[in-house]
Amino acid sequence: MSAALLVEDLVKKFGTGKAAVDGVSFDVPAGEIVVLLGPSGCGKTTTLRCVAGLEHPTVGRISIGGRVVSEPQRGTLVSPRERDIGMVFQSYAVWPHMTVHQNVAYPLKYRRKNTSGSADIDTKVRETLELVGLGEYAQRPVTSLSGGQMQRVALARSLVYRPQLLLLDEPLSNLDSKLRIRLRDELRRILKMTGMTGLYVTHDQSEAVVLGDRIGVMKDGKLLQMAPPGEIYNRPADSFVANFTGAANVLKGKVLERKGEQAVIDLGAAGRIEAWTPQPLVAGDNAHVALRAENIRLGERGPANSFTGRVIERRYQGMQTIYDVEFGGQRVEVLELGTAARHNDGEVALTLPPDSCWAYRDEGQATVD
Ligand SMILES: Nc1ncnc2c1ncn2[C@@H]1O[C@H](COP(=O)(O)OP(=O)(O)O)[C@@H](O)[C@H]1O
Ligand SMILES: [Mg+2]
Repeated sequence: MSAALLVEDLVKKFGTGKAAVDGVSFDVPAGEIVVLLGPSGCGKTTTLRCVAGLEHPTVGRISIGGRVVSEPQRGTLVSPRERDIGMVFQSYAVWPHMTVHQNVAYPLKYRRKNTSGSADIDTKVRETLELVGLGEYAQRPVTSLSGGQMQRVALARSLVYRPQLLLLDEPLSNLDSKLRIRLRDELRRILKMTGMTGLYVTHDQSEAVVLGDRIGVMKDGKLLQMAPPGEIYNRPADSFVANFTGAANVLKGKVLERKGEQAVIDLGAAGRIEAWTPQPLVAGDNAHVALRAENIRLGERGPANSFTGRVIERRYQGMQTIYDVEFGGQRVEVLELGTAARHNDGEVALTLPPDSCWAYRDEGQATVD
Protein backbone atom coordinates (compact mmCIF):
# COMPACT_ATOMS: atom_id res chain seq x y z
CA MET A 1 0.00 0.00 0.00
CA SER A 2 1.33 3.40 -0.87
CA ALA A 3 1.23 5.89 1.98
CA ALA A 4 1.13 9.64 2.43
CA LEU A 5 4.24 11.51 3.55
CA LEU A 6 4.07 14.53 5.82
CA VAL A 7 7.11 16.69 6.56
CA GLU A 8 6.63 19.46 9.14
CA ASP A 9 9.13 22.22 9.97
CA LEU A 10 12.11 20.03 9.13
CA VAL A 11 15.50 21.44 10.14
CA LYS A 12 18.82 19.67 9.67
CA LYS A 13 22.07 21.21 10.83
CA PHE A 14 25.43 19.58 10.30
CA GLY A 15 27.78 20.66 13.08
CA THR A 16 27.37 24.30 14.00
CA GLY A 17 27.11 25.81 10.50
CA LYS A 18 24.12 27.08 8.55
CA ALA A 19 21.13 24.74 8.40
CA ALA A 20 21.28 22.48 5.33
CA VAL A 21 17.48 22.16 5.59
CA ASP A 22 15.87 25.18 7.14
CA GLY A 23 12.23 24.79 8.18
CA VAL A 24 10.81 22.77 5.30
CA SER A 25 7.15 21.64 5.35
CA PHE A 26 5.20 19.76 2.68
CA ASP A 27 2.97 16.77 2.21
CA VAL A 28 2.75 14.09 -0.45
CA PRO A 29 -0.71 12.48 -0.56
CA ALA A 30 -0.74 8.72 -1.19
CA GLY A 31 -0.11 7.97 -4.88
CA GLU A 32 1.18 11.44 -5.70
CA ILE A 33 4.66 12.30 -7.01
CA VAL A 34 6.33 15.37 -5.54
CA VAL A 35 9.58 16.66 -7.00
CA LEU A 36 12.01 18.80 -5.00
CA LEU A 37 13.82 21.01 -7.50
CA GLY A 38 16.75 23.30 -6.84
CA PRO A 39 20.42 24.00 -7.50
CA SER A 40 23.22 21.88 -6.10
CA GLY A 41 23.67 22.32 -2.35
CA CYS A 42 20.14 23.62 -1.62
CA GLY A 43 19.29 20.69 0.68
CA LYS A 44 17.38 18.25 -1.56
CA THR A 45 19.40 15.15 -0.72
CA THR A 46 19.49 16.00 2.98
CA THR A 47 15.68 16.31 3.02
CA LEU A 48 15.35 12.96 1.26
CA ARG A 49 17.82 11.29 3.60
CA CYS A 50 15.92 12.61 6.62
CA VAL A 51 12.73 11.02 5.21
CA ALA A 52 14.62 7.77 4.67
CA GLY A 53 16.04 7.86 8.19
CA LEU A 54 19.63 7.98 6.94
CA GLU A 55 20.09 11.42 8.51
CA HIS A 56 18.80 12.40 11.93
CA PRO A 57 16.85 15.66 11.73
CA THR A 58 17.67 18.44 14.17
CA VAL A 59 14.05 19.62 14.53
CA GLY A 60 10.70 18.81 12.96
CA ARG A 61 8.35 15.93 12.40
CA ILE A 62 8.19 13.36 9.60
CA SER A 63 5.22 11.00 9.27
CA ILE A 64 4.71 8.19 6.78
CA GLY A 65 1.23 6.73 6.43
CA GLY A 66 0.12 8.61 9.53
CA ARG A 67 2.90 7.15 11.68
CA VAL A 68 5.50 9.53 13.10
CA VAL A 69 8.92 8.16 12.08
CA SER A 70 11.02 11.05 13.30
CA GLU A 71 10.45 13.75 15.89
CA PRO A 72 13.65 14.62 17.76
CA GLN A 73 11.82 16.86 20.25
CA ARG A 74 10.06 13.74 21.56
CA GLY A 75 12.94 11.38 21.00
CA THR A 76 11.12 9.51 18.22
CA LEU A 77 13.34 7.93 15.57
CA VAL A 78 12.27 4.89 13.55
CA SER A 79 15.17 3.09 11.84
CA PRO A 80 15.41 3.15 8.02
CA ARG A 81 14.67 -0.57 7.80
CA GLU A 82 11.38 -0.12 9.58
CA ARG A 83 10.13 2.71 7.38
CA ASP A 84 9.20 0.48 4.41
CA ILE A 85 10.77 2.77 1.85
CA GLY A 86 12.33 2.11 -1.56
CA MET A 87 15.26 4.21 -2.75
CA VAL A 88 16.87 4.84 -6.13
CA PHE A 89 20.08 6.85 -6.38
CA GLN A 90 22.17 8.45 -9.07
CA SER A 91 24.66 5.58 -9.05
CA TYR A 92 23.24 2.28 -10.23
CA ALA A 93 23.30 0.29 -7.02
CA VAL A 94 23.15 -3.21 -8.53
CA TRP A 95 24.97 -6.38 -7.49
CA PRO A 96 27.47 -7.01 -10.28
CA HIS A 97 27.89 -10.75 -9.72
CA MET A 98 24.16 -11.47 -10.19
CA THR A 99 21.80 -11.73 -13.15
CA VAL A 100 19.06 -9.19 -13.67
CA HIS A 101 16.49 -11.60 -12.22
CA GLN A 102 18.61 -12.32 -9.15
CA ASN A 103 19.13 -8.63 -8.52
CA VAL A 104 15.41 -7.94 -8.53
CA ALA A 105 14.53 -11.08 -6.53
CA TYR A 106 17.06 -10.22 -3.81
CA PRO A 107 14.93 -7.82 -1.76
CA LEU A 108 12.00 -10.25 -1.82
CA LYS A 109 14.15 -13.06 -0.50
CA TYR A 110 15.96 -11.09 2.16
CA ARG A 111 13.45 -8.59 3.45
CA ARG A 112 11.99 -9.45 6.79
CA LYS A 113 8.41 -8.91 5.80
CA ASN A 114 8.81 -11.50 3.06
CA THR A 115 6.17 -14.19 3.12
CA SER A 116 6.41 -15.16 -0.55
CA GLY A 117 7.14 -18.66 -1.83
CA SER A 118 9.64 -19.04 -4.68
CA ALA A 119 6.94 -19.29 -7.40
CA ASP A 120 5.41 -16.12 -6.07
CA ILE A 121 8.79 -14.37 -6.05
CA ASP A 122 9.33 -15.44 -9.65
CA THR A 123 5.96 -13.97 -10.72
CA LYS A 124 6.60 -10.68 -8.92
CA VAL A 125 10.07 -10.37 -10.46
CA ARG A 126 8.74 -11.07 -13.96
CA GLU A 127 5.91 -8.56 -13.59
CA THR A 128 8.26 -5.87 -12.32
CA LEU A 129 10.82 -6.50 -15.08
CA GLU A 130 8.00 -6.18 -17.65
CA LEU A 131 6.94 -2.94 -16.02
CA VAL A 132 10.39 -1.38 -16.40
CA GLY A 133 10.83 -2.77 -19.92
CA LEU A 134 13.41 -5.44 -19.09
CA GLY A 135 11.25 -8.54 -19.58
CA GLU A 136 13.70 -9.98 -22.11
CA TYR A 137 16.77 -9.43 -19.98
CA ALA A 138 15.99 -11.51 -16.89
CA GLN A 139 18.76 -14.07 -17.35
CA ARG A 140 21.50 -11.66 -18.46
CA PRO A 141 24.40 -10.83 -16.15
CA VAL A 142 23.61 -7.35 -14.89
CA THR A 143 27.06 -6.11 -15.93
CA SER A 144 26.24 -6.75 -19.59
CA LEU A 145 23.58 -4.02 -19.51
CA SER A 146 23.87 -0.34 -20.46
CA GLY A 147 23.72 2.41 -17.84
CA GLY A 148 20.06 3.09 -18.57
CA GLN A 149 19.19 -0.58 -18.27
CA MET A 150 21.08 -0.89 -14.98
CA GLN A 151 19.12 2.04 -13.62
CA ARG A 152 15.93 0.20 -14.64
CA VAL A 153 17.18 -2.81 -12.66
CA ALA A 154 17.75 -0.56 -9.64
CA LEU A 155 14.25 0.82 -10.07
CA ALA A 156 12.73 -2.67 -10.42
CA ARG A 157 14.53 -3.75 -7.28
CA SER A 158 12.94 -0.87 -5.36
CA LEU A 159 9.49 -1.48 -6.81
CA VAL A 160 9.33 -5.25 -6.50
CA TYR A 161 8.44 -5.35 -2.81
CA ARG A 162 5.94 -2.50 -3.22
CA PRO A 163 7.26 -0.15 -0.53
CA GLN A 164 4.78 2.40 0.79
CA LEU A 165 7.00 5.25 -0.36
CA LEU A 166 9.63 5.54 -3.09
CA LEU A 167 12.48 8.05 -2.81
CA LEU A 168 14.50 8.92 -5.92
CA ASP A 169 17.65 11.07 -5.78
CA GLU A 170 18.69 12.33 -9.23
CA PRO A 171 18.30 8.81 -10.67
CA LEU A 172 18.82 9.97 -14.27
CA SER A 173 21.88 12.15 -13.77
CA ASN A 174 24.43 9.56 -14.88
CA LEU A 175 22.66 8.76 -18.16
CA ASP A 176 23.37 10.34 -21.52
CA SER A 177 20.86 12.94 -22.60
CA LYS A 178 18.81 10.83 -25.02
CA LEU A 179 18.36 8.01 -22.52
CA ARG A 180 17.65 10.47 -19.77
CA ILE A 181 14.71 11.91 -21.68
CA ARG A 182 13.33 8.47 -22.53
CA LEU A 183 13.57 7.12 -19.01
CA ARG A 184 12.23 10.38 -17.60
CA ASP A 185 9.06 10.05 -19.66
CA GLU A 186 8.75 6.36 -18.78
CA LEU A 187 9.40 6.83 -15.08
CA ARG A 188 6.21 8.77 -14.61
CA ARG A 189 4.19 6.10 -16.42
CA ILE A 190 5.81 3.34 -14.33
CA LEU A 191 5.25 5.12 -11.02
CA LYS A 192 1.66 5.94 -11.90
CA MET A 193 0.98 2.32 -12.90
CA THR A 194 2.17 1.12 -9.51
CA GLY A 195 0.25 3.89 -7.71
CA MET A 196 3.37 4.49 -5.64
CA THR A 197 3.84 7.64 -3.56
CA GLY A 198 7.05 9.23 -4.83
CA LEU A 199 9.47 11.88 -3.61
CA TYR A 200 11.91 12.71 -6.38
CA VAL A 201 14.76 15.20 -6.17
CA THR A 202 16.56 16.80 -9.09
CA HIS A 203 18.30 19.98 -10.24
CA ASP A 204 16.81 19.50 -13.73
CA GLN A 205 13.66 21.53 -14.35
CA SER A 206 12.59 19.44 -17.35
CA GLU A 207 12.58 16.28 -15.19
CA ALA A 208 10.59 18.08 -12.51
CA VAL A 209 7.92 19.23 -14.95
CA VAL A 210 7.44 15.85 -16.60
CA LEU A 211 7.50 13.78 -13.40
CA GLY A 212 5.88 15.84 -10.71
CA ASP A 213 2.23 16.16 -9.79
CA ARG A 214 3.65 19.02 -7.76
CA ILE A 215 7.05 20.67 -7.73
CA GLY A 216 8.72 22.23 -4.70
CA VAL A 217 11.46 24.71 -5.54
CA MET A 218 14.25 24.90 -2.95
CA LYS A 219 17.01 27.42 -2.32
CA ASP A 220 19.46 27.59 0.60
CA GLY A 221 17.62 24.95 2.62
CA LYS A 222 14.23 26.64 2.21
CA LEU A 223 11.19 25.58 0.23
CA LEU A 224 10.16 28.67 -1.73
CA GLN A 225 7.04 27.40 -3.49
CA MET A 226 5.27 24.09 -3.93
CA ALA A 227 2.62 23.87 -6.63
CA PRO A 228 1.59 21.92 -9.75
CA PRO A 229 4.05 22.38 -12.65
CA GLY A 230 1.73 24.72 -14.58
CA GLU A 231 1.52 27.04 -11.61
CA ILE A 232 5.28 27.02 -11.00
CA TYR A 233 5.78 27.94 -14.67
CA ASN A 234 3.02 30.52 -14.98
CA ARG A 235 2.72 31.92 -11.48
CA PRO A 236 6.17 31.80 -9.86
CA ALA A 237 5.75 33.20 -6.35
CA ASP A 238 9.35 34.27 -6.08
CA SER A 239 11.92 35.76 -8.41
CA PHE A 240 14.29 32.83 -7.80
CA VAL A 241 11.55 30.38 -8.83
CA ALA A 242 10.94 32.39 -12.01
CA ASN A 243 14.62 32.51 -12.85
CA PHE A 244 15.41 28.89 -11.97
CA THR A 245 12.59 27.63 -14.15
CA GLY A 246 13.82 29.60 -17.12
CA ALA A 247 12.38 33.13 -17.09
CA ALA A 248 15.60 34.61 -18.38
CA ASN A 249 14.47 38.17 -19.17
CA VAL A 250 14.62 40.77 -16.41
CA LEU A 251 13.46 44.38 -16.82
CA LYS A 252 14.36 46.93 -14.14
CA GLY A 253 11.83 49.54 -13.10
CA LYS A 254 9.81 51.24 -10.38
CA VAL A 255 6.27 50.54 -9.19
CA LEU A 256 3.81 53.26 -10.23
CA GLU A 257 0.69 51.66 -8.77
CA ARG A 258 -0.68 48.35 -7.66
CA LYS A 259 -4.24 46.98 -7.82
CA GLY A 260 -4.69 43.57 -6.28
CA GLU A 261 -2.38 41.21 -8.08
CA GLN A 262 -1.68 43.68 -10.88
CA ALA A 263 1.07 46.29 -10.85
CA VAL A 264 2.06 49.03 -13.26
CA ILE A 265 5.82 49.40 -13.53
CA ASP A 266 7.67 52.37 -14.96
CA LEU A 267 10.50 51.14 -17.17
CA GLY A 268 11.96 54.60 -17.78
CA ALA A 269 12.57 55.39 -21.43
CA ALA A 270 10.68 52.28 -22.57
CA GLY A 271 7.45 53.45 -20.90
CA ARG A 272 5.07 51.53 -18.64
CA ILE A 273 4.38 47.87 -18.35
CA GLU A 274 1.53 45.99 -16.68
CA ALA A 275 2.51 42.94 -14.71
CA TRP A 276 1.18 40.32 -12.34
CA THR A 277 2.71 40.36 -8.88
CA PRO A 278 2.49 37.89 -6.02
CA GLN A 279 4.12 40.35 -3.63
CA PRO A 280 2.64 43.31 -1.72
CA LEU A 281 4.50 45.92 -3.75
CA VAL A 282 3.70 49.60 -3.20
CA ALA A 283 4.16 52.67 -5.38
CA GLY A 284 7.78 53.80 -5.36
CA ASP A 285 9.25 50.32 -4.77
CA ASN A 286 12.10 49.32 -7.01
CA ALA A 287 11.00 46.23 -8.88
CA HIS A 288 12.09 43.93 -11.63
CA VAL A 289 9.86 42.21 -14.13
CA ALA A 290 10.73 38.66 -15.15
CA LEU A 291 9.43 37.03 -18.30
CA ARG A 292 10.13 34.09 -20.52
CA ALA A 293 11.63 34.41 -23.97
CA GLU A 294 8.88 32.13 -25.31
CA ASN A 295 6.05 34.33 -24.01
CA ILE A 296 7.06 37.48 -25.91
CA ARG A 297 5.18 37.97 -29.18
CA LEU A 298 7.24 39.45 -31.96
CA GLY A 299 5.58 41.28 -34.85
CA GLU A 300 2.35 41.69 -32.88
CA ARG A 301 0.60 44.61 -31.23
CA GLY A 302 -1.64 43.47 -28.38
CA PRO A 303 -4.08 45.53 -26.27
CA ALA A 304 -1.46 46.13 -23.55
CA ASN A 305 2.31 46.11 -23.12
CA SER A 306 3.07 46.69 -26.81
CA PHE A 307 6.33 48.33 -27.79
CA THR A 308 8.33 49.16 -30.86
CA GLY A 309 11.81 47.70 -30.72
CA ARG A 310 14.74 46.67 -32.86
CA VAL A 311 16.07 43.23 -33.60
CA ILE A 312 19.77 43.48 -32.74
CA GLU A 313 20.74 39.89 -33.38
CA ARG A 314 19.05 36.76 -34.63
CA ARG A 315 20.26 33.22 -33.99
CA TYR A 316 18.62 30.59 -36.14
CA GLN A 317 18.70 27.15 -34.48
CA GLY A 318 16.73 25.05 -36.95
CA MET A 319 13.67 24.25 -34.87
CA GLN A 320 13.55 27.72 -33.31
CA THR A 321 15.06 31.18 -33.59
CA ILE A 322 16.35 33.40 -30.78
CA TYR A 323 16.18 37.16 -31.23
CA ASP A 324 17.88 39.85 -29.15
CA VAL A 325 15.50 42.78 -29.16
CA GLU A 326 16.04 46.25 -27.74
CA PHE A 327 13.27 48.71 -26.81
CA GLY A 328 13.66 51.98 -24.91
CA GLY A 329 17.01 50.96 -23.42
CA GLN A 330 15.72 47.53 -22.29
CA ARG A 331 16.96 44.34 -23.88
CA VAL A 332 15.08 41.04 -24.10
CA GLU A 333 15.58 37.65 -25.64
CA VAL A 334 12.65 36.35 -27.68
CA LEU A 335 12.13 32.77 -28.76
CA GLU A 336 10.17 31.94 -31.89
CA LEU A 337 9.25 28.32 -32.53
CA GLY A 338 9.25 26.84 -36.01
CA THR A 339 11.77 26.18 -38.75
CA ALA A 340 11.30 29.58 -40.43
CA ALA A 341 12.71 32.78 -38.91
CA ARG A 342 10.04 35.37 -39.68
CA HIS A 343 11.77 38.56 -38.55
CA ASN A 344 14.80 40.41 -39.87
CA ASP A 345 17.19 42.77 -38.15
CA GLY A 346 15.68 46.24 -37.66
CA GLU A 347 12.41 47.66 -36.40
CA VAL A 348 9.82 45.26 -34.99
CA ALA A 349 6.63 45.41 -32.92
CA LEU A 350 6.59 43.35 -29.75
CA THR A 351 4.00 42.49 -27.13
CA LEU A 352 4.77 41.33 -23.60
CA PRO A 353 1.42 39.86 -22.44
CA PRO A 354 0.69 41.24 -18.92
CA ASP A 355 -0.17 37.79 -17.62
CA SER A 356 3.32 36.55 -18.53
CA CYS A 357 5.11 39.53 -16.95
CA TRP A 358 5.81 38.99 -13.25
CA ALA A 359 6.95 41.82 -11.02
CA TYR A 360 9.06 41.20 -7.92
CA ARG A 361 10.55 43.50 -5.35
CA ASP A 362 14.19 44.39 -5.94
CA GLU A 363 15.95 43.18 -2.83
CA GLY A 364 18.90 45.47 -3.61
CA GLN A 365 19.26 48.97 -2.17
CA ALA A 366 16.72 51.57 -3.23
CA THR A 367 18.03 54.34 -5.43
CA VAL A 368 17.31 57.94 -4.49
CA ASP A 369 15.90 60.10 -7.25
N1 LIG B 1 27.28 14.98 5.85
C1 LIG B 1 27.36 16.30 5.74
N2 LIG B 1 28.14 17.03 6.55
C2 LIG B 1 28.23 18.37 6.45
N3 LIG B 1 27.54 19.10 5.54
C3 LIG B 1 26.75 18.43 4.69
C4 LIG B 1 26.60 17.01 4.73
N4 LIG B 1 25.73 16.64 3.76
C5 LIG B 1 25.35 17.77 3.14
N5 LIG B 1 25.96 18.85 3.69
C6 LIG B 1 25.76 20.26 3.29
O1 LIG B 1 24.37 20.54 3.32
C7 LIG B 1 24.00 21.36 2.24
C8 LIG B 1 22.91 20.69 1.43
O2 LIG B 1 23.46 19.54 0.77
P1 LIG B 1 22.59 18.52 -0.07
O3 LIG B 1 21.38 18.17 0.71
O4 LIG B 1 23.47 17.41 -0.49
O5 LIG B 1 22.17 19.42 -1.31
P2 LIG B 1 21.61 18.98 -2.75
O6 LIG B 1 21.22 17.55 -2.72
O7 LIG B 1 20.47 19.93 -2.98
O8 LIG B 1 22.72 19.25 -3.72
C9 LIG B 1 25.26 21.64 1.45
O9 LIG B 1 25.78 22.86 1.87
C10 LIG B 1 26.17 20.51 1.87
O10 LIG B 1 27.51 20.89 1.78
MG1 LIG C 1 21.88 15.97 -3.93
